[in-house]
Amino acid sequence: MARPCLLLPSLLLAAAAAALLLSWAPGGALAKSKLAKKSDDIVNGPLLTEKLGAKRTLIVGPDEEFKTVQSAIDAVPAGNSEWIIVHLRSGLHKGKVTIPADKPFIFVRGNGKGRTSISHESASADNAESAAFTVNADNVIVFGISFRNSARVGLVNNQEIRSVSAMVAGDKVAFYHCAFYSPHHTLFDSAGRHYYESCYIQGNIDFIFGGGQSIFQCPEIFVKPDRRTEILGSITAQDRKAEDDTSGFVFLKGKVYGVGEVYLGRVSAPNSRVIFADTYLSKTINPAGWTSIGYTGGTENVMLAEFNCTGPGSDAAKRVSWSRRFTMNEADKYLTVDFINGKEWLPAFYY
Ligand SMILES: *[C@@H]1O[C@H](CO)[C@@H](O)[C@H](O)[C@H]1NC(C)=O
Repeated sequence: MARPCLLLPSLLLAAAAAALLLSWAPGGALAKSKLAKKSDDIVNGPLLTEKLGAKRTLIVGPDEEFKTVQSAIDAVPAGNSEWIIVHLRSGLHKGKVTIPADKPFIFVRGNGKGRTSISHESASADNAESAAFTVNADNVIVFGISFRNSARVGLVNNQEIRSVSAMVAGDKVAFYHCAFYSPHHTLFDSAGRHYYESCYIQGNIDFIFGGGQSIFQCPEIFVKPDRRTEILGSITAQDRKAEDDTSGFVFLKGKVYGVGEVYLGRVSAPNSRVIFADTYLSKTINPAGWTSIGYTGGTENVMLAEFNCTGPGSDAAKRVSWSRRFTMNEADKYLTVDFINGKEWLPAFYY
């Protein structure tokens, strides 16, 4: 079945027309390669800004009205009901940032994940407490920011020490072109419907975890070695607790690579649900694919699946018996933003 590639046909057409024009111009080859880069990067700050139609912008930077990100968030009125932009100037923004539950409709906009970052060093026994960036509000959109928790956490095996870079606990939250860095337990995708498009996520143990209902579109997942630990880490630990729990992590058209070896996922609840589809898996994926290490319940009700993946880490031969290899029919309901009802709330999406 052919699946359409992008839901921004007018932009694509414009890009195609421009490519055609440029290919006729002298020096077209160079210009074309620049253009190709641009069309990969089709969701950008201006596009999201236009879609959301925010009326107010609060600017954060050393020479701006707001010196810290948190002070700008604090200036958003409680019970906010219209989109408001919190724009972060390029550079490093230090300090923990929390968007409280009573401040929805915030668009946190950076200048790109290589230019704008939020960084905080905090290790704690508690995931939420350790998080550098926390979203407790519904309806939050984030563009172009790196989130980093660079706490030196010592023993990775110790469950008491957490260093989360972002915790996402609101409903209808989307991140475009963001990056998440921490040694492990990087992205606490806690609860609610979420969408991550073209995001980079780095870590080692259970580094995308929680009970969120989330799509990761074209993610870049980098496995970072950690020589302090004996166990093999795991990319995901999804916390779906019951048959009627709608949560689950869906990875589409991404790539997984890095150094060392990990599992795609670890069972952490009776109905853990994770699917990797159309994804390149490098040899960083252990041939068993999935693990239940540290989990005392059964694996009979989990849904840990792969569909149409490629690369040396995608070989089915040695997968654990309780993991799944989906057919197109089984995979179908996970392959579009309908899994998170995205057409009702996302300002932009692939398909
Ligand atoms: C499988 O993935 C490739 C890209 O890796 C894609 O071109 C192809 O359409 C996918 N097949 C199905 C059946 O979805």
